[in-house]
Amino acid sequence: MLKLKIALVTGGTSGIGKEIAKQLLLNGCFVFINFGHNDDQMFEAKKELRQISDNFKIIKANISNEVEVHTMMNKIKDKFGKLDYLVNNAGTNIDSFIEDLDIHDFKKVIDVNLIGKVICTKYAIPLLKNSKTPAIVNIASRLGSAPCRESSAYCASEAGIINFTKSSALELAKYKIRVNCVSPSLTITPLALEGWTKDEIEEHRDNNPLGRLGEAIDMANAVLFLLSDKASYITGQNINVNGGSLML
Ligand SMILES: NC(=O)c1ccc[n+]([C@@H]2O[C@H](COP(=O)([O-])OP(=O)(O)OC[C@H]3O[C@@H](n4cnc5c(N)ncnc54)[C@H](OP(=O)(O)O)[C@@H]3O)[C@@H](O)[C@H]2O)c1
Repeated sequence: MLKLKIALVTGGTSGIGKEIAKQLLLNGCFVFINFGHNDDQMFEAKKELRQISDNFKIIKANISNEVEVHTMMNKIKDKFGKLDYLVNNAGTNIDSFIEDLDIHDFKKVIDVNLIGKVICTKYAIPLLKNSKTPAIVNIASRLGSAPCRESSAYCASEAGIINFTKSSALELAKYKIRVNCVSPSLTITPLALEGWTKDEIEEHRDNNPLGRLGEAIDMANAVLFLLSDKASYITGQNINVNGGSLML
């Protein structure tokens, strides 16, 4: 069995996913880095990650498209025959009040944030079964436990992922595949900047018990712990990484 750890990070060309990919590279993994659409962002990420290591391959695939995900997993199978770590990170958001909702937007958010992670999990299972230390970490959100206004699709998708984490942990335990979830609070990334004004961001920071916003590295550190052998008896859990905020 290959000793090198093989990881797949979805949405690894930006924000939290890019930081997770960086930390996995720094820890000696070979990392498959997935993205969906933005080629310019992908080229920037590629340049940045090359400063750390060449041990990665970038794969374009829309995670809500079953055929594209299946093809992505086959590429991993052909190169290494196994997957040790799946990080289901890719996500999106379209804010709207329920009254004004375009149902297609609601479906799009659910399609990426929830169904996309389900599809990636399904097609990763055969590869994870070939690992000695298989683990999945899903990235959800504080809004999956404590919903807010104007973001019902996002809140529903993230709540779904927290529960999907628990059901997949139960089902996949028979293969020793551990499945956990990290729920970040507001973390400054392109996705967060789309939905928050400068004033709202400052208010959020000032109300946080630790007096700061989350950083991508805070989330990556939690993910790396959950993937590691140090978490070998932890599965089915949702860890809120939020500076102690009671609003989650
Ligand atoms: N930032 C926060 O405050 C925060 C808080 C709580 C939870 N989260 C969660 O953390 C995760 C990462 O968020 P982020 O803030 O780092 O976002 P981000 O900077 O916008 O990055 C999102 C990544 O996902 C990829 N992506 C989006 N749709 C995709 C699709 N259909 N198929 C494949 N890849 C796709 C994007 O690539 P392309 O654009 O090229 O497709 C990009 O690489 C998300 O699941 C988000 O819900 C974030």
